[in-house]
Amino acid sequence: MMPGMSMLRLAPSLLAADQTNLQAAVDACAAAGIQVLHLDVMDGHYVPNLTFGPKVAVDLARYITAREYEMHLDVHLMVTDPDRFVPAFAEARPAWITIHAEAPIHPLRTLQLIRDHGCGAGISLNPGTPLSALEELLDLTDLILLMSVNPGFAGQRFIESSLDKIARCRTLLEHRQSLAILEVDGGIGVANLSQVVAAGARMLVVGNAAFDEREGRTMAGNLAALQASLRQCQI
Ligand code: DX5
Ligand code: ZN
Repeated sequence: MMPGMSMLRLAPSLLAADQTNLQAAVDACAAAGIQVLHLDVMDGHYVPNLTFGPKVAVDLARYITAREYEMHLDVHLMVTDPDRFVPAFAEARPAWITIHAEAPIHPLRTLQLIRDHGCGAGISLNPGTPLSALEELLDLTDLILLMSVNPGFAGQRFIESSLDKIARCRTLLEHRQSLAILEVDGGIGVANLSQVVAAGARMLVVGNAAFDEREGRTMAGNLAALQASLRQCQI
């Protein structure tokens, strides 16, 4: 684990923030003591949506440094050909770059490529992908990102069977004595956060729950409520 990092942490997903004002979202996260920012990169092929290019990641990293925020970028690549994009995203010096196990033809090679670029190597599984897809990849994996929605959009409903998959993943990590961080992504909010942690997750992506500002909600209020729920969790 990185020095100064909490055992349990939120990773707000900027996909759900106002895309014309990402700095305000980053500022709200910093004020709420957030240590990890999740960046959902979509290519319109692997998932039916388009989002950030590498320049956004690099500019965010520059902004975080300029403001002296203690924050790490967590880049989630939902792209068909991650090998093409790892070097460009590594320029932002993210703590992790995560690829989907289902995407590259040679995922071990891609995980090694990520490490060779000085980043933690993450592997993500879609809800429909069995946990066994991880087994041969674990030795090169610093982070596991279990999807609890089908990737592509923020604001979807948490797939309940993910809880069992998270618990089985935690058992697998213990069995293999892996120190990989177990992150879960999709449909997490105050209502189910403690269940996700109890099942074994240690890093929780929050999109809408963090950045939805409709009906009088504020980013500061959302993040404070999420942080308070996280503090209640025992691990
Ligand atoms: C979905 C993305 C998620 C998403 C999470 O493809 O990977 O990170 O932004 O948003 P919520 O928390 O709203 O489901
Ligand atoms: Zn994500």
